[in-house]
Amino acid sequence: MERLESKIMLNKPVYLVGFMGSGKSSVGKMLARKKGFTVVDADKYLEDREGRTISQIFAEQGEDRFRDLETKYLHELSGDPQIICTGGGVVKSETNRKIMKENGFVIYLKVTADAAASRIKDKSSRPLFKDLESARKIITERAPLYEEAADAQIDTVGLDVWQISSKVFQTLKENDLVVHI
Ligand code: S3P
Repeated sequence: MERLESKIMLNKPVYLVGFMGSGKSSVGKMLARKKGFTVVDADKYLEDREGRTISQIFAEQGEDRFRDLETKYLHELSGDPQIICTGGGVVKSETNRKIMKENGFVIYLKVTADAAASRIKDKSSRPLFKDLESARKIITERAPLYEEAADAQIDTVGLDVWQISSKVFQTLKENDLVVHI
């Protein structure tokens, strides 16, 4: 009998990684809305589970504590075939890179500091986005880690959320990550 309705989902977790402002969360929202994927924002998940904002965690307990929590919840989220929008610093930890490699597929959304700065409206919620110069420095430091973690890369500069989402969807299809149920 012909299927009346078809739903798409992933066959393993897909991690969106990239610097702040690369579009991870916006692309996640778009793919949830337009394609019906299950999408979770790792930072938001962490804040909900901890009952505190990331800025509060940084201010009260520092970056190291935030990183430990990030690893704990990344592990927790990696059991389901869903899109996981990670925080920009997730690749700093070797454990996190290993969790992602072993459990799923990693898509690196590339961005420059200038493009990121023009996309980020609320910088107060991002304790590590101080100014352009420090953003450039962090991107340069992290670039090899993003590249090491990545199974696929998408250059997002000059693209809007819709265009980046289409490229991500294309990447999912090309890598046989999408299943119809
Ligand atoms: C961080 C990026 C943030 C958040 C935290 C640290 C980073 O996530 O996890 O402020 O180290 O780059 P977004 O990339 O979603 O802004």
